[in-house]
Amino acid sequence: MATIDKLMDKLVSLCKRRGFIFQSSEIYGGLNSCYDYGPLGVELKRNVKEFWWKAMVQSRDDIEGLDASILMHPRVWEASGHVANFTDPMVDCKICKGRFRADELNDKKPGQCPRCGNKDSLTEARQFNLMFKTFMGPVEDAANVVYMRPETAQGIYVNVYNVMQASRQKIPFGIAQIGKAFRNEITPGNFTFRTREFEQMEMQFFVKPGTDMEWFEYWKTQRMAWYDELGIRKSKLRFHQHGPKELAHYAAAAFDIEYEFPFGWKELEGVHNRTDFDLKRHMEYSGKDLNHFDDATREKYIPYIIETSAGCDRTVLTALIDAYDEDVIEGEARTVLRLAPAIAPIKAGVFPLVKKDGMPEVATKIHHELKKHFNVFYDDGGAIGRRYRRMDEAGTPFGITVDGQTLQDQTVTVRERDSLVQTRVAADKVVPFMQEKMAAYRRE
Ligand code: GAP
Repeated sequence: MATIDKLMDKLVSLCKRRGFIFQSSEIYGGLNSCYDYGPLGVELKRNVKEFWWKAMVQSRDDIEGLDASILMHPRVWEASGHVANFTDPMVDCKICKGRFRADELNDKKPGQCPRCGNKDSLTEARQFNLMFKTFMGPVEDAANVVYMRPETAQGIYVNVYNVMQASRQKIPFGIAQIGKAFRNEITPGNFTFRTREFEQMEMQFFVKPGTDMEWFEYWKTQRMAWYDELGIRKSKLRFHQHGPKELAHYAAAAFDIEYEFPFGWKELEGVHNRTDFDLKRHMEYSGKDLNHFDDATREKYIPYIIETSAGCDRTVLTALIDAYDEDVIEGEARTVLRLAPAIAPIKAGVFPLVKKDGMPEVATKIHHELKKHFNVFYDDGGAIGRRYRRMDEAGTPFGITVDGQTLQDQTVTVRERDSLVQTRVAADKVVPFMQEKMAAYRRE
């Protein structure tokens, strides 16, 4: 990998230029920490979600899907502990008006503003609840307050027995969900790493107490392997175990899967053993019996929960950062996104070598044929090298070129983005050729 200066600046600029990610409401000056996914970004994000859904739901017999509503009964958030505890300590600088999380300040310089450097300029820390509030119905009073969910997990917990009965699952089994979550973060930043509106990909696995640590270990391994399959370099991933001070009040054990971002090692996903805390609390607050009765063993218990909680936007950002590379080909610099083919927004570019001799007609036919199988892009504008570069920058793994030889023997060249190997393939065999290559892909 080439030495990359200011990777984040380059990536943000590429994201805008190529239509991966735009600042929200840009023509009004933007809205802090809110982003829109453009044509390439929305494909990438959909592919990441599909990759997760396939691994966590469709390829398994023991996990069911769910799509719960964002607004839930306000008591849910009392039971979950979010109303009382989902807070960050906030301090303000009296001089420069900067706002910071007290737990992220430098312990060695107490009271000193990290932005303007003034000493003793910070206010006392105040606890700030991160949940967004709104009102249900026309009357804006305390009785009508509802919250924008700060995690998707609670929608799963309150539905556990609905799902279990409807799907005839037996413990151990899991429920998976992808959806929006909202947190009024004090210090959002690092592009889409920490935002106030984001999507989570969460799975809650319900197990018999006593088997929980075994399942916890199992899910740790599974989830780390998923990032490898997603094409993220192993050397950039690690586990971080929560020490006693970090461990949430409900958790018996917790590990983060961390990625080495340009701004340091940071959490990508949390794997938690949440014990029976959640269902116990919902039992207490709803008054409903949430015990499970096992017909086979005649045992009654509250299931323990192993949670895998990933950020979708954060995974997309990680995939982009990890894929970004610069190299030189035949004396010309190129920017390339080495995205795994499974998540690449466009799978192949189709190019007639020149815009004459019937090549565009043949290329168009191939383009339409490939479109039945993959998202592909037709481009007949400019020198072929330039067209390859444009696709490299979009992360497109294959370039298919129709040339003079195609007209004689119906073969095309298939160029591979990473190895730059060009193979002559019969035009009607391009689909299986690509499928085979995509299935065999492993990030170097
Ligand atoms: N249900 C457990 C839970 O929500 P979390 O560690 O608070 O746990 C899980 O969040 C994941 O959600 C994080 O690992 C991260 O990927 C993502 N996430 C959390 N806050 C985020 C934010 N403000 N912006 C983007 N992603 C966020």
